[in-house]
Amino acid sequence: MDVTLRVQRFDPEAADPKSYWEDFQVAIEDNGTVLDALIKVREDTDGTFSLRCSCRSSICGSCAMRINGHAGLACKMQASKVMEDGVITVEPMGNMPVIKDLVVDFDLFWDKIMAVEPYLKHEGPEPEAEYIASNEAMLHLSGVTACIMCGACVSDCTVMEVDPSFLGPAALAKAYRFTADPRDGDENGLSKDRLEELTKPSGMWDCTRCLECVAVCPKGVAPMDRIMALRDQAMEAGFHDTIGARHTEAFSDSLEHSGWLDELRLVPKSLGMTNISALAGYAPIAIQALTHGKMPPIIHKKIEKAENVRKIFDKVQGPEQR
Ligand code: FES
Repeated sequence: MDVTLRVQRFDPEAADPKSYWEDFQVAIEDNGTVLDALIKVREDTDGTFSLRCSCRSSICGSCAMRINGHAGLACKMQASKVMEDGVITVEPMGNMPVIKDLVVDFDLFWDKIMAVEPYLKHEGPEPEAEYIASNEAMLHLSGVTACIMCGACVSDCTVMEVDPSFLGPAALAKAYRFTADPRDGDENGLSKDRLEELTKPSGMWDCTRCLECVAVCPKGVAPMDRIMALRDQAMEAGFHDTIGARHTEAFSDSLEHSGWLDELRLVPKSLGMTNISALAGYAPIAIQALTHGKMPPIIHKKIEKAENVRKIFDKVQGPEQR
């Protein structure tokens, strides 16, 4: 099978180091992977072409790169299935500096993983014998422990693209691996210190739920779902006094009581009514909305049949919880 690889290349030692595109024609087996094709380029055409790979079995995570615009493992993608008119576009992962061709610098990735203290931290008295964890708890964790640290989720995280300080999907999923572990935290398995740390700016509340990390994760870890579970844990642990928590509560209250979003009050309720400096930062947006006729109504009326929306809340939360 003939394949055209359109590869983004970069040589830091070139006289004018700029990234550029180069096409390679290669012949591979019909069931060959994108990685097979890339290795063929390196072996037969250009020995300077740089990429990382090791296991070729979707285990080590080292061959992650962007294929046709989305991150994934080159060794997991069959070339025939991702070709578009005979062409496969390959780029280095995003949100990490390129070292050479498809090789990126993982320092930022590992710094964030280390920032969440990726090891069990037991608080309180030591158990007399071994730590006991139920089968159910361990089975629940098996989804998130499937992470192979390939960086695909970080590559395509749309928040990290604009805010590199965001802990990101890989580190937050790793944090959940510990907050959901009954051996972490106090004798009831509550990891209060961790959760408090993760509620700070750049943590769990900065995810915008774009779903990219869920779509590209080659192991089904679904990092965004873990971030949402972290938020639930934080709220249950009593961390309500954060912008993210207030935003969620204001959003939900508004829908529950009127059937639609009260956009006018959402910002002050999220930031805090007395947070004058933060509120002042939104003044230009409010003025723009006003001058363009986009200001939400001051009196927020219920929609017709708002009780139908309330019924959804009843169904999800149970009327006794409200
Ligand atoms: S080479 Fe190990 S995951 Fe692809």
